[in-house]
Amino acid sequence: MAKLFNPIQLGAYALSHRVVLAPMTRLRTIQPDDIPSPMMADFYGQRASQGGLEIVEAASVSATARSYLGAASIFHDGQMEGWKAITRAVHAKGGLVFLQLIHGGRQSHVEVTGGFEPVAPSVVPFDGIALTKDGFVPASPHRALGIEEIPGIIEEFRAAAQRAKDAGFDGVELHAANGYLVDQFIQDGTNRRTDAYGGPVENRVRFLRETLEALISVWGAERVGVRISPSGEWGGVSDSNPEATFKHVARVLDTYKIAYLHVIEPRVKGDDTLHEGHPPVAVKYLREHFSGPIIAAGGFDRESAHAIVESGDADLVAFGRHFSSNPDLPYRLQHALPLTPYVRAAFWGGSQAHYSDFRAYDASQATQNDATADEAETA
Ligand SMILES: Cc1cc2nc3c(=O)[nH]c(=O)nc-3n(C[C@H](O)[C@H](O)[C@H](O)COP(=O)(O)O)c2cc1C
Repeated sequence: MAKLFNPIQLGAYALSHRVVLAPMTRLRTIQPDDIPSPMMADFYGQRASQGGLEIVEAASVSATARSYLGAASIFHDGQMEGWKAITRAVHAKGGLVFLQLIHGGRQSHVEVTGGFEPVAPSVVPFDGIALTKDGFVPASPHRALGIEEIPGIIEEFRAAAQRAKDAGFDGVELHAANGYLVDQFIQDGTNRRTDAYGGPVENRVRFLRETLEALISVWGAERVGVRISPSGEWGGVSDSNPEATFKHVARVLDTYKIAYLHVIEPRVKGDDTLHEGHPPVAVKYLREHFSGPIIAAGGFDRESAHAIVESGDADLVAFGRHFSSNPDLPYRLQHALPLTPYVRAAFWGGSQAHYSDFRAYDASQATQNDATADEAETA
């Protein structure tokens, strides 16, 4: 288990171990203004560890970038105190904390965008969902972005990155995964443009490059990461040649010398394991195209996290679901302690219950189960 608990340099930061908190939207902001709530500060503070990295759930860069009612956003002053409470809680325990920045693109609904039609690179039939006051509903019809609108969206990313800095984060992660706007530009199933942002992959990554450059203009490359999901199925995206496309993406990102590349394995779709037992593939074929640190995510447990870091295909491993129910996950993995099962019913909104009330390992707890089984889903 040694290497998973070895220090590593991640851009500007010296981490003391390689177990990362994956970004998880938990829909617990205070409405109507997406104010980060005190229970969110509790949640992130509980999961902080000395020299460990947390990536905070996707925060929309503007009102029109929103996808889910209750999800985080970072575009107005009223949100700043809530964000500062979160970064303080993590720093108090010696942890590092990046904020993931998102534009939902076509995965949205007029009810959460303030009445504006969701935008996308192109208009392509889409049967995805958004979350409104009526629950998960079909996404609203979207429209294609005019080329003259793109600089405005890039500026939203830049302004949000500046706000993240003002709130005390240590860096930002660009959400270029899971079929949201940046991913919609990258993949040719959703990008049918014929202008400088569409067509060959060199054009399809232009939006990625420009958003990334906006984040770098605020933070410097050594404090910016990018998350991708090659062959991921969330958000109805597809590409005619995902391996070639994402190798190109990795090569492009490599030229920026960013802090890390974060890769979701395609065996996972959003918050669910689609293909049980599939070995990691995405990280394997990207490794030779990206020279910086790679964070692997999606379906890892203690053994497979250890194996992928030992193999060198990835340098760190991000955990989502297991971290949701094990605030001291790095410690438990290091000491081979049993995991508390996660509670799927509490993933998308709710109270502190099954959110910030999970306890650190206590040897006297007799009811701990190993959470690798499916039963964990409904525990
Ligand atoms: C409730 C929930 C919310 C999620 N929200 C986000 C998010 O905001 N941004 C993101 O990139 N991934 C999100 N994900 C995906 C996770 O970051 C991670 O890739 C996924 O859970 C697979 O990792 P795991 O097998 O360790 O859980 C979410 C997953 C869950 C379970």
